[in-house]
Amino acid sequence: MKIFLDTANLDEIREIAAWGILSGVTTNPSLLAKEQGADFRETIAEICRLVNGPVSAEVIATDVPGVLAEAREYAAWHPNVVVKIPLTPNGISAVSILAREGIKTNVTLCFSANQALLAALAGATFVSPFVGRLDDISEDGMALIRDIVKIFRNYAYIKTHVLAASIRHPRHLVEAALAGADVATVPTAVLKQAIKHPLTDAGLEKFLSDWNKRSTNHANPRERLENSRGFAKIRG
Ligand code: G3P
Repeated sequence: MKIFLDTANLDEIREIAAWGILSGVTTNPSLLAKEQGADFRETIAEICRLVNGPVSAEVIATDVPGVLAEAREYAAWHPNVVVKIPLTPNGISAVSILAREGIKTNVTLCFSANQALLAALAGATFVSPFVGRLDDISEDGMALIRDIVKIFRNYAYIKTHVLAASIRHPRHLVEAALAGADVATVPTAVLKQAIKHPLTDAGLEKFLSDWNKRSTNHANPRERLENSRGFAKIRG
């Protein structure tokens, strides 16, 4: 399963891009609104420079001509731009036209398997089922991911990627991967939770503490390296 970062914050993207595990970024109007005063096009362009993978930029228009106009504009900004379009009748109409033009789309605000199937039949590149928002209303968001993956796998002609979205905690990551989602788009805070484990921290602390107790004249890793080089010379 690939990981996208779900944010428009450039500092967060730079930080996580340095991990070397990012395959893309998703933004939406709410995430961009959090970046006070940021220019939409400049932000998307910078994200495309920071991450070599699909970058979702969402339309605001809700009518077909408006969606098409925005989509064609955004797609021209950078080859990695994927146009995010809400899953409505007009949105699906626009997606089917854009698919024929070779413009990549991410159909968002998906909350049912029927919606996902229609997005796939329209030729969406990605469909984004919102797991967390279903959980928030006591439905089983991950069951939706499992259903969509199972349906899509029944038909070789369906090429739409399942992009698990609205990820709230590390367990959603594991479950999305177990369900076979192609991608999970993850907030920075959740990724930072996912990489940490208390036993890793405790184990590292113990390793370093034991090492430093071993001998004060080998405590310094640089000295250890020099010593090992010396050892290598002796061994020949
Ligand atoms: O960006 C799409 C999706 O990930 C939004 O998630 O947390 O606003 O439900 P959230």
